Amino acid sequence: RPVVIGVDVGGTKVMAAEVAIDGTVTRVARRATPGRRVDVALLEDALSEAVLEVADGRRVAGVGLAAAGFVDAAGERVAFAPHLPWRGHQVRARLTDRWGVPVFLDNDANCAARAESAHGSALGAADALVLTLGTGIGGALVVGGALHRGRNGMAGEFGHTRVVPDGRDCECGGHGCWEQYCSGNALVRAARAAMAADGPLASACAGDPAAVTGPMVTDAAHAGDPAALAAYAEIGEWLGIGAANLVACFDPSVVVVGGGVSAAGDLLLEPARAALGRSLVGAPHRVVPPLLRARYGPEAGVVGAADLVREGLGRHARPR
Ligand code: BGC
Ligand code: NA
Ligand code: ZN
Repeated sequence: RPVVIGVDVGGTKVMAAEVAIDGTVTRVARRATPGRRVDVALLEDALSEAVLEVADGRRVAGVGLAAAGFVDAAGERVAFAPHLPWRGHQVRARLTDRWGVPVFLDNDANCAARAESAHGSALGAADALVLTLGTGIGGALVVGGALHRGRNGMAGEFGHTRVVPDGRDCECGGHGCWEQYCSGNALVRAARAAMAADGPLASACAGDPAAVTGPMVTDAAHAGDPAALAAYAEIGEWLGIGAANLVACFDPSVVVVGGGVSAAGDLLLEPARAALGRSLVGAPHRVVPPLLRARYGPEAGVVGAADLVREGLGRHARPR
């Protein structure tokens, strides 16, 4: 039977996966994202390599792309992407032509929301807020059981709401965006700044702050490194504060957190829950929504991208 492939095109890495009809990821291939100022051909080459590796000579039914950017309402074009080189490119048509199989396209957080609503942590929630923490922050809002898309198809760009006037420069061209304080990049920045001369984090990066990566911070936090724990506490607090703002706006029944950083689980989510409870307006007088890790964690994007393919090909969604 031909394989269905979901591809998460993130600001740091590309993950392609074969996804079974029940959402199980059965094979994965990864490539580094070539950068955001490179020729788009380099990015598309990396996608092709990862897709070919997963297909491994088998017939491909279709490929779903979960792109870290502003996808138009028709699912054809990436209008803009702070962390990727696509600028108005007809991504769906380009890759359909290149691969000769049906290709479907949506924003990465929208794909994560699709997976989590259909068979994950937001299952049964008519109103859900989905956030993905990776290079940046992705967002999606489910209202009355449907994804809210907006006029341009670009609703849910919560990562680029300004939380600090005259704050840190953002790849989107703005300043003080939430994702500059609460993302994989923010985690690494905080850990570098707080790193001690010795301890788990210092030995992981051989004493070189510039060499610190997100996974190093996570391992070091699990090993009790104070700087790594403080970095998680810091971005977790920003997550809870931002979530409280969004809950004040939309009153969802659940907040689901996916993306690469969600692999850290409670290291991230415990400080976020505390900050959400403290920051949400009227908290004692309302049900505060649970803040849950995405069932598919960092794989929510690829699982949702595969769902997009199955839906696009007109096959029926997986049986419950
Ligand atoms: C982009 C979003 C994307 C998110 C997560 C943000 O910087 O603007 O489109 O969903 O990163 O990858
Ligand atoms: Na989105
Ligand atoms: Zn921004």
